[in-house]
Amino acid sequence: MTDNLHQLRCFGCGARIAGADALPDFRCAACGDLFEVEYPGWSQRRGPDRPNSGALKWLWRERKSSSEALDQSGVWRFRELLPILDSFGNAVTLREGNTPLYHLHRASKALGIDQLFAKHQGMNPSGSFKDTGMTSAMSVARERGFEWVACASTGNTSAAMAAYAARAGLRSLVLIPDGKIAWGKLSQAMDYGAVTCQLMADFDGCLTLLTQIVKEAPIYLLNSVNPYRLEGQKTPAFEIAEAFDWDVPDHLIVPGGNLGNSSALGKGFREMRELGLVARMPRISVIQAAGANPLVRSFAASHGAELEPVEAHTRATAIRIGNPASWRKAARVIQDTGGWCLDVTEAEIAISKAELGAEGLGCEPASAVTLAGLKKLRAEGKIRSNETVVLVLTGHTLKDADYTIDFHRGTLLTEEESAGNEAEINARRRNAVVVDASAAAVLSAMRSSAG
Ligand code: F0G
Repeated sequence: MTDNLHQLRCFGCGARIAGADALPDFRCAACGDLFEVEYPGWSQRRGPDRPNSGALKWLWRERKSSSEALDQSGVWRFRELLPILDSFGNAVTLREGNTPLYHLHRASKALGIDQLFAKHQGMNPSGSFKDTGMTSAMSVARERGFEWVACASTGNTSAAMAAYAARAGLRSLVLIPDGKIAWGKLSQAMDYGAVTCQLMADFDGCLTLLTQIVKEAPIYLLNSVNPYRLEGQKTPAFEIAEAFDWDVPDHLIVPGGNLGNSSALGKGFREMRELGLVARMPRISVIQAAGANPLVRSFAASHGAELEPVEAHTRATAIRIGNPASWRKAARVIQDTGGWCLDVTEAEIAISKAELGAEGLGCEPASAVTLAGLKKLRAEGKIRSNETVVLVLTGHTLKDADYTIDFHRGTLLTEEESAGNEAEINARRRNAVVVDASAAAVLSAMRSSAG
């Protein structure tokens, strides 16, 4: 008896192959596109043979109170919807997922949207959403007997991969762009024992090089071109639906970098609808930084049919990506759900990040594009006040403390970048002040602090 019920289907030409037959770079031998995991059994089971959605919903909730490692994982408690392993006993888990969904009190009020929430994926074991995809893909790596795993990364993938590799007893290789990743993330890769190479290249260059390397040596590629990553990363969609009692929010807003996450969440909602677990899909919108916006340009030029890579620049280093691998999948999610793709400036990102901090949540800069994007969508009349909106916060605020400190010290943005937003920026800044060690000086500092 195997737990494995999947095959791979090429997103481009539709070719189907067994999971074990994928090439090391996870590209289709016929057309070069990426694969998606599919479960042929699901479509064959119709009528009374369909999975009993009521029983599954009950089981998944029940597992939350179990003491089994697999049940305690917010990914594997949904394992009926990711049968990718020969044995679920091979899963490598750090009890990822089950992340909180917070109501955003202040932003709700400011934007006039009552039902505004943040799904905080930064509350995962290594501090980002990558853990949900790493548990699934690392488990496949271990089951298939690999000794080495590798990724190119803007930081979070490498932190997650290094942690899960260490748990699995595998060696890990990280390629990162020199000087362009946040220290918190680099420190994690070191702490978890990865071989870390800083290259004089951007993320896109690192991924291109790694693609060559995995063809020359038996190393398992763990970037989101690996379709098993997306299987874990689809599970926050299940958690969100569960949190809304199996209704879905009207609108989900996701940051876009290499575009694996938006693709995965879209897949999660699509599968739930196909299996009759939910009745509809939310609109899914993808927000990019203005300096790293190839998908936004693609939508403007060809409604997501062609993509021209760009040279990427943004202080939100996690999404500093000019040639996103999963762009076709993400474009389809946006098109199928009636979502939007837009970009936001460096100042808009910084202000939104500070606002999320002031809600007591905090997140890393790349996550804050979601709130910045929501503000734009709301201003353009694309989101009504009675809609339920969920922002996906992808990384923890401590990942990039330098960015936060620079913002509050007033050294983050250039004059040009801040132009027109000075008042809003200054209202948000809370720089630490040096004062005498006396009660009078501290009380005076309190009194002179803005609102
Ligand atoms: N937010 C954070 C915090 C990220 O680390 C990333 C991607 C994204 C958003 C974008 O997600 O690539 O699926 O569209 N970080 C990758 C990395 C590229 O290497 O850590 P995406």
